[in-house]
Amino acid sequence: MTDLSVDLGFIKLKNPVIAASGTFGYGLEFAPFMDLKKLGGFVVKGLYFSPREGNPPPRIAETPSGMINAIGLQGVGVKNFADEILPELKKYDTSVFINVCGEDEEEYARVVDFLNGLEGIAAYELNISCPNVKKEGKCPAQDPEATYSVVKRVKEISRCPVITKLSPNVTDIVEIAQSAEEAGSDAISLVNTFLAMAIDIETQKTKIANVFGGLSGPAIKPLAVRMVFQAASVVNIPVLGMGGIATGGDAVEFMLAGASAVQVGTANFIDPDATIQIIREIETYCKNQNIDRVEEIIGKVQI
Ligand SMILES: Cc1cc2nc3c(=O)[nH]c(=O)nc-3n(C[C@H](O)[C@H](O)[C@H](O)COP(=O)(O)O)c2cc1C
Repeated sequence: MTDLSVDLGFIKLKNPVIAASGTFGYGLEFAPFMDLKKLGGFVVKGLYFSPREGNPPPRIAETPSGMINAIGLQGVGVKNFADEILPELKKYDTSVFINVCGEDEEEYARVVDFLNGLEGIAAYELNISCPNVKKEGKCPAQDPEATYSVVKRVKEISRCPVITKLSPNVTDIVEIAQSAEEAGSDAISLVNTFLAMAIDIETQKTKIANVFGGLSGPAIKPLAVRMVFQAASVVNIPVLGMGGIATGGDAVEFMLAGASAVQVGTANFIDPDATIQIIREIETYCKNQNIDRVEEIIGKVQI
């Protein structure tokens, strides 16, 4: 039997496959279709302090081998999550990660301060790849100093390990990854979506009301693998890789590039059982390659 468990230092996962934030609801929505406890874990939809409606529609568009979304971080807010959702999630024996959002540093701290009082959270995934008012239109993950500042602030108060989620919309992912590590982040996850745009040539209108959205799915996989490789080459904390993973082979590719675990996003929309199949396919790969422990392949790409 292949040992699929991976040790991130601050937590041991039963396997390296985690469902990605925003593509898996709050987890409960997927319970009728799959066995949640078979997952390495899942990340819930991004949470701000208060409930948010998100952007007006249309806010999703299909593109070749991918999709653009501009949901705008619709969410129930921390209080509703704590009262109505988290107690239900405790019934499932898997790691629950909370995607933490903020309009500014104060809000990130407020959300974390509130969540600190709750049980049953494996770690916070700090979504610093979302729009922020502090630096006109930029998110913290697009600036090394802003990344350092928000991660440090959250680490000072956090009772849970912190995974910092990075944006691919940068010139140099290495300096951002290093800033997150220097500020004390326990791990990094990447990538969030690529800023993108699509136009309907019949109506001559943008396909997304917000004009821009984030591109995800298989179209971004080679870009994401490159960024995971670059980031994993410079940091000493675990890297969680994602971007277009749809098969066990895709997950293995990210792990060879240096990811200790992977997240699966858009593939969940095509098949709600995608994560389970990916776990099975990773196991088959390991068996075929005579690999006893999946951890053996992390960072083993040959150049
Ligand atoms: C509809 C949708 C909503 C998303 N919402 C969030 C979110 O709330 N927080 C976050 O950090 N990432 C969010 N993401 C980004 C994904 O978690 C993931 O980083 C990205 O989609 C790349 O992985 P994929 O190609 O496997 O989907 C969202 C992605 C999609 C497609």
